Formats: sequence, structure tokens, C-alpha cells
Amino acid sequence: MTPGKGYFDRVAGEWDRMRAQFFSEGVRERALSVAGVRPGRVAADIGAGTGFITEVLLRRGLRVIAVDPSPGMLAQMERKFAGAEGLELRQGAAEALPIPDSAVDYVFANMCLHHVERPPRAIREMVRVLRPGGVLVVTDLDEHRFEFLREEHCDRWPGFKRGEVAGWFREAGLEEVRVEDVGERCCARSCCGDEHANVGIFLASGRKPR
Ligand SMILES: C[S@@+](CC[C@H](N)C(=O)[O-])C[C@H]1O[C@@H](n2cnc3c(N)ncnc32)[C@H](O)[C@@H]1O
Repeated sequence: MTPGKGYFDRVAGEWDRMRAQFFSEGVRERALSVAGVRPGRVAADIGAGTGFITEVLLRRGLRVIAVDPSPGMLAQMERKFAGAEGLELRQGAAEALPIPDSAVDYVFANMCLHHVERPPRAIREMVRVLRPGGVLVVTDLDEHRFEFLREEHCDRWPGFKRGEVAGWFREAGLEEVRVEDVGERCCARSCCGDEHANVGIFLASGRKPR
């Protein structure tokens, strides 16, 4: 089975339930903690989905630009955050962000990078929209061998080597680059057999030079 185009539109209404089976809230707590987010600042949530990261950023008093290419995911967010102050939804892809240069203090991308066509290009874009001194935090899957994630969940990449991601961060001009373990695993069960993925999650962070 190939999920193909429109996969995220089709699962948007189910995504919160699916997400809770894949990984827990610990991932976003760690991401915000490493970024050192402060109220009143502006963050971008790239590949925002239904707002897993956005939700805690708003709760902590940040303004958020949430970007996703899927109209279905954006519609879910619109419903979920109706009337919320400080949130802007923008349709777009990580490789060509609909955000001007140096516009945000933090960029987060949770479980987005393994869906983008050109990860190094997406990282360069995320760095472009950061203000000098701003922080990028990418949380994603370690390299794995579970082909069913590509076939059933539209993954483009079978996770990443941590060293490779660190290299992309440095090539994009970031300083203080670190790639660490989140201390959480991503779990998924194939719908067409008894395969069960249990994959490490890394957190990559770096700061744009002042
Ligand atoms: C696995 S979901 C993660 C959603 C959310 N960040 C979360 O943690 O629940 C991946 C998201 O990335 C989005 N996406 C797919 N391709 C993308 C791209 N090229 N640029 C940005 N986002 C993309 C999908 O529409 C989907 O909402």
C-alpha cells in the first residue's frame, strides 16, 4: 500500500490519536526546554500538523507562526485553536518557508524532516527565518530499517544519522550545534503484518550567530 499524495489530509482528523501512539508529550517538553523559550517571543512551528508543538508554545505565552503544506492539518488547527491569540497559520513547505528573513526567535520542526524532499535545504530555510541569536530545534527519528513507515505513513527518509544532521546544521551556519537523545522512542505497528517499529528520537539544536 502506498499512501501517496494527500496522506496528511486524509489522516488529519485522526492525527492527535495517532500521534499519541507514536510518541509522547516528553518530546515537546524537551524541545522547548533546550530552546529556552521565553514568553513574548516569536516561534515558527514547521510541519506543525495539528499543533503538537504550537499548543505548548502558545500556553507558554509565545506568538507562533505554524506552517504546514496540508490543508487538512491546517483546518484541524484552525478548529482546535479558534480564537487563540498570537497564532498565525500559513500554508507552505519547509523547503520554501512563507516567512521573511530573520523574523522569528525560535524554529521547531517535530517529525517533519523525514517527510521533506531535501532536508539540508529545509534546514537552510529554517536558519534563514531565524533572527541572529535565535535557536533551531529539530526533533526526528534516528536512522531505522522499517520500510513499512515509508509505505504506510508516507515517510520519505528512514530517519537520519545524528552526525549527518549535525553536519547540515553547521553547513547552514549554526553555532553551538548539539545532537542528543530525547529519551523517548517512536513506536508504530504495521497495519499489514506483525512488524513493530521502535525507533530512537534525536533532538538537534543550534544557534544562529549574532
Ligand atoms: C508526522 S507529522 C508531524 C506533525 C506535528 N509536527 C507533530 O509533531 O504532531 C508531519 C507533518 O509534516 C508535514 N509535512 C509534510 N511534508 C512537508 C514539507 N515538505 N514541509 C513541511 N511540512 C511537511 C505534514 O503535512 C504533517 O503535518
